[in-house]
Amino acid sequence: MGHDHESEAQQQQHKLTENGKDHPKEDSPKKEEENCSASDHFTKFNPDQYLQSFYKSAGEDLAMQVVLFFLPGILYRLPKRIESMLDLGAGPTVYLPIACRDRVVTIYTSDYAPANRQSLQQWCEQRHSFDWTKVCTWISNIEATHETAEVMQQKARDKVRAILDVNVHACPVVRNVDWKKDESVEVPEQFDLVTTVFCLEYSGETLQEYLRAVKGACTLVKPGGYLMQGGVLDADSYNFDGKRFRSHRLMREHVTLGLKENDFFTEEDASGEHEFKFIVHEEVYIMIAKRKN
Ligand SMILES: C[S@@+](CC[C@H](N)C(=O)[O-])C[C@H]1O[C@@H](n2cnc3c(N)ncnc32)[C@H](O)[C@@H]1O
Repeated sequence: MGHDHESEAQQQQHKLTENGKDHPKEDSPKKEEENCSASDHFTKFNPDQYLQSFYKSAGEDLAMQVVLFFLPGILYRLPKRIESMLDLGAGPTVYLPIACRDRVVTIYTSDYAPANRQSLQQWCEQRHSFDWTKVCTWISNIEATHETAEVMQQKARDKVRAILDVNVHACPVVRNVDWKKDESVEVPEQFDLVTTVFCLEYSGETLQEYLRAVKGACTLVKPGGYLMQGGVLDADSYNFDGKRFRSHRLMREHVTLGLKENDFFTEEDASGEHEFKFIVHEEVYIMIAKRKN
């Protein structure tokens, strides 16, 4: 990848999209971007380009840095042992299974786009060419652990049970099981922890669609289980690979509304019950909410 493209990738951050405009370098005229709808994720999302644009190093993307930085503090609020976790709309990424590797017993991952599920399968089968070392190092520095990237990935990989075909706007959300670790794996209908980052607000373009996506995600959380959600507030699109994907302009009150509608705790309490926490930094948010029993 040439230098020009790298600088361009640095500009292609999840959040740098005020009113859908970004800031091209002055010495290179902006190439025409393809304008894509949220549903174009299904066919137009290029997993390799996405990973190169946002995950080549942990410093590639501010939103990613903020999510990774606050993740350990969010995970700390969970019970020490979580039986099952689903990463909903993982794209081609595995940083959440890696970050949760010591706390979760079984991991499921998923996406809407077939190309992303294929990419996840390649990682599970250890034949993916993308190098997660820099992201792992970033995670281990924040955790203050000394595990190598290889060990971190292998621990996470060993726990992945299946890759699911999902659509947060459909009922049921899980449409199919694309890949299983072995034939004995039974995919649960609900999980103790559902993580979903840069997904629900990107899966549609209106508040109504966002709330439908939240409803779908919440159906996957066991009563008494947790939803961990992250993303960017007040942005209506994001871009990479010469494409700009439109999204819903999410506000904090939309997040709260979605949780309330689906019977999740939305108040930070002083009692130490750890039922709800919302962290926002530079418009990037990460939150954990417990589902009422
Ligand atoms: C910006 S990417 C985020 C990927 C990853 N979670 C991350 O943190 O980088 C948005 C993801 O949402 C997925 N997505 C879009 N529409 C969806 C839908 N209706 N149901 C589930 N996932 C969807 C896309 O396929 C894509 O992988």
